[in-house]
Amino acid sequence: MNIQQSFKMLPTEEAAKLRGRGPVSARPYFDPEWWELERKAIFMRSWINIGHVCEVPEPGSFIRREVEFANASLLIVRGKDGEVRTFHNVCTHRGTQLTDERCGKQAKFSCRYHMWTFGTDGSLLSAPDFERFYVAKEDVGLKQVATEVVGGMIFINFDPEPEQSAREFFGPIADEMDQLPAASAIDFTEWTYEIPANWKTNFDNFQENYHLRFIHPRTGQQTIGEENPFGYPTHYGFVGPHRSQTLWSNPNPPPIPPTLLFGYQRGAELAHKDGMNFPKTDFKLFPCLHIVGLPPAQQFSHTHFPLGPDRTRGVIRMYWTKEADSASRLFTREFAAMSIRDVLSEDRYAVESGQRGLNSGAIDKIHLQDHEMLLRHLYETVQEKVADYLAEQEAG
Ligand code: FES
Ligand SMILES: [Fe+2]
Repeated sequence: MNIQQSFKMLPTEEAAKLRGRGPVSARPYFDPEWWELERKAIFMRSWINIGHVCEVPEPGSFIRREVEFANASLLIVRGKDGEVRTFHNVCTHRGTQLTDERCGKQAKFSCRYHMWTFGTDGSLLSAPDFERFYVAKEDVGLKQVATEVVGGMIFINFDPEPEQSAREFFGPIADEMDQLPAASAIDFTEWTYEIPANWKTNFDNFQENYHLRFIHPRTGQQTIGEENPFGYPTHYGFVGPHRSQTLWSNPNPPPIPPTLLFGYQRGAELAHKDGMNFPKTDFKLFPCLHIVGLPPAQQFSHTHFPLGPDRTRGVIRMYWTKEADSASRLFTREFAAMSIRDVLSEDRYAVESGQRGLNSGAIDKIHLQDHEMLLRHLYETVQEKVADYLAEQEAG
């Protein structure tokens, strides 16, 4: 079963005809000036996944996140009222960063420089000798960043007045996200990496199966078969800036190699026992979040945080709805995470090499086949967002 109803999935031919078939420009995949436009037009005003609610379980729980594309350090804090809020990690007296801790739990945040102290709702609670300042306490609360939780995931938006709420932005997909394991997860396994590649070059690698048989001869065999030698998806769907594909299920998969068999079987048994039998999903959410769930084993998210025109940080998380309270649960989680790491380390070479080639400027066009239509959709969406931004700037 799939839950991609909101995307109105179409068979490949039909979907590809609607998307068009010409080449696209190579420049947006490496040009620093274009990246600066994307940064302003997209990343500084879109909903970006920054964390998960299980990281801030109680009032006073917080995480700090560095967001390079915004040159920002953020504190994501659960307030006494249960609300999750995001603040700049910047004291409103003279700018000192409030904490260096990556996470923690505290009732208030005191600045080490002159001891201004803020509550978990960002308000200034106290400041030594405040009578000598000529400002009201209410006017110097921590600077807030728009925050919303969808499907257990925390999203932020640097736009002071976002055009849409995150739920509006995801539209009908938001309800489907509420049904995924991440929505009720209490824990996750995280794996991050940095790669010298544009965020679109890196994301695109996870938007097509054309490469499976060449790049993943060992790990990809389960997903290709005689009647579908490339393991192509069967359907594609689009909702505004978001997209999806229906992954093909191999009716006669080759036997799992003996070295992997135990991990696979144990993973499936435990997932079944833990009630992780969620529907199959593959959501590519604008701009840079990929959520894929292959039941019964796991659901994972993969965020492609841009660090510059040719550098990206990938954050992969596998979500768990039960405590890792036994050796077999610990083993299967580690096994699942290492399996994904194996596949990704195969992709890494191709992505890095692709970026080096693009950076040389030797090709000015990229040719996309029908089963690469998700790449085309991301390219076109980025073009539209940048054009909208430029038109707004022009209109003043
Ligand atoms: S800079 Fe924070 S209290 Fe002075
Ligand atoms: Fe791959």
